[in-house]
Amino acid sequence: ADLNLQEIHDFMISIARKAGETITAAHPTAGATGNKKNSVDLVTETDQAVEKLVSTSLREKYPDFAFMGEETYKPGDRLTSAPTFICDPIDGTTNFVHTYPYVSISLGFSLNLVPTIGVVYNPFTSTLYSAIKGHGAYKNLDQTLPLSAPSKFETGVSGCLVAVEWGSDRSGNDFAVKSKTFSRLAATKENGGGMVHGLRSFGSAALNLCGVAEGGLDIYWEAGCWAWDVCAGWVILEEAGGMMVDANPGNWEPRVDGRRYFAIRPGEGQREVVEEFWGLVEGAFE
Ligand code: IPD
Repeated sequence: ADLNLQEIHDFMISIARKAGETITAAHPTAGATGNKKNSVDLVTETDQAVEKLVSTSLREKYPDFAFMGEETYKPGDRLTSAPTFICDPIDGTTNFVHTYPYVSISLGFSLNLVPTIGVVYNPFTSTLYSAIKGHGAYKNLDQTLPLSAPSKFETGVSGCLVAVEWGSDRSGNDFAVKSKTFSRLAATKENGGGMVHGLRSFGSAALNLCGVAEGGLDIYWEAGCWAWDVCAGWVILEEAGGMMVDANPGNWEPRVDGRRYFAIRPGEGQREVVEEFWGLVEGAFE
């Protein structure tokens, strides 16, 4: 039977708002954090409580759909082509712990492994981003994204405001790729760099994607995301006219279960900027 995507979208928004109340009512401290893979990979009791609330409500209403969440994911779990809710209860946990209000609940829905509905809600600023594939992207339900005129990328990569994230992986090849990529983007042209207008690390993958969809950020690049970080924001980005590609130079097709993502804002000449960007950072992947 055909799924009623609008109804699913509306329900996801009501759940996100409810989750938001739990998030803003909590008083996390660094002491309340559990320790995942290392001392910067944080999780709080609130992350777990919110995921429980979300998965319980979704399962009750849609018992036949699958669910994947950051806090209950186990290595080896696979996304399938089934209708699947993909949830990051608190995207920006580090910000949450530090009371820096760049925090969201990221709630996505995938069909045949295609991100199809996206809801990203920052309960501290009461900002809601949402989209259904094929039906546009919105901020607070009534403002169409992008908010600013699509870019012409007149000066290519060098005119861009670029969000990047260090993530929690601070060693090995991924760390080397990140460090090299960041310095290449920032360096002057004489030094072989991209001389971007600025590099920003705000600490929430989902909100970064919404920032690119909105048009405030030109590019967001990260190696090391998970499906729950990107599924919702991806729909919002694409519905705003933005584009998601794989951060691996030359790979145009990103996968929802991949790890490297490159988002670029709406505008003419996106592909040329992606190619210029890849040319700059290519060596970092060797
Ligand atoms: C993290 C944030 C961070 C990004 C990481 C994510 P979490 O999500 O989005 O900005 O760099 O890759 O895992 O752990 O706060 O849910």
